[in-house]
Amino acid sequence: MFGKKKTVSTIDKDQLELIENAQKRIKQKKRLYVHFVVFLIGSIFFIVANNFLAIGETYVLAGQGWWFYLVLAWLLLVIYHFVSVFITNKFMGKDWEKEQLEKLVNQQQKRIDKLKKGFLKEETKLAQSQAYNEAKEETPPVLKKKSNNLTIIVAAGENNAIGKDNDLIWHLSDDLKRFKALTNGHHIIMGRKTFESFPKPLPNRTHIVITRQADYKVPDGVIVVNNLDEAIDAARSDQQPFIIGGGEIYKQSLDIAGRLEITRVHSKFDDADTFFPEIDETKWTESERTSNNADEKHAYSFSFITYLKK
Ligand SMILES: NC(=O)c1ccc[n+]([C@@H]2O[C@H](COP(=O)([O-])OP(=O)(O)OC[C@H]3O[C@@H](n4cnc5c(N)ncnc54)[C@H](OP(=O)(O)O)[C@@H]3O)[C@@H](O)[C@H]2O)c1
Repeated sequence: MFGKKKTVSTIDKDQLELIENAQKRIKQKKRLYVHFVVFLIGSIFFIVANNFLAIGETYVLAGQGWWFYLVLAWLLLVIYHFVSVFITNKFMGKDWEKEQLEKLVNQQQKRIDKLKKGFLKEETKLAQSQAYNEAKEETPPVLKKKSNNLTIIVAAGENNAIGKDNDLIWHLSDDLKRFKALTNGHHIIMGRKTFESFPKPLPNRTHIVITRQADYKVPDGVIVVNNLDEAIDAARSDQQPFIIGGGEIYKQSLDIAGRLEITRVHSKFDDADTFFPEIDETKWTESERTSNNADEKHAYSFSFITYLKK
């Protein structure tokens, strides 16, 4: 039932290689030995032919017969053969080739690793810069960047009065028309109190209301934010968002706005309770001014003045 196990050759690849190598070396040495023997016989033959049989005895160079030069040349060949078998093939044989190949492969691998590292670094840099650019596009633009686009629009008396009891102090029809014309289609940023001073949201404008209240309720389409930065961020798609008041929001935005559209109402309103901040003439340049006289529709004379941030 259980037959004798067949003997299986246990010679592995390395052993086979060693055997092949040994056989090759034996062949090389044998050939050298044969070469040497042939050389000895050949040399004796040349010596005999030249000196004893007088073959070509007239060919003499530097006192030596031709046999001398032939034997010398052949001897050099034998020496070369000897060197090739015992030095070149011994020390620069298959093992040496293998070693050199391994060295080369290692060197190449190191270079590849270095290149990979370089690529990785480059890729990381690219990825980082890409992520940074994308983040830049996605994150709210900083106020300073936005400031050039941000326009404050206000109507203020000579004493900077802008309101009383959460309402305007005057009714100037042309000023309202101008307000409508300038802000039409834009984002209008306002404080909660100003928003509440409107009977309803103004048509064709996106309202952004700033409040500290967490759950401030507004009609559909009105954006509620919790600070000025968020308001500016919410209006980032707009090339020219407007700050439309009131007093608290004007104070916070005057330093960051790039343009100021002020309707200066030429009268003092001592009973006002809300004021526009003082315009620092060193920071602003007047670029346009249109004066309007009082008439039946306008109780006060007023000027439309445009200031640009220096
Ligand atoms: N003449 C004009 O051109 C003009 C234009 C607009 C308004 N006005 C007048 O100005 C007056 C209103 O101005 P106002 O100064 O009293 O009020 P406002 O600036 O309109 O609103 C103030 C409110 O805004 C919110 N707020 C302000 N700063 C904030 C911040 N940093 N973060 C979060 N929320 C903030 C607060 O709301 P919460 O209390 O809800 O937190 C605060 O109570 C009214 O009389 C109005 O008629 C005049």
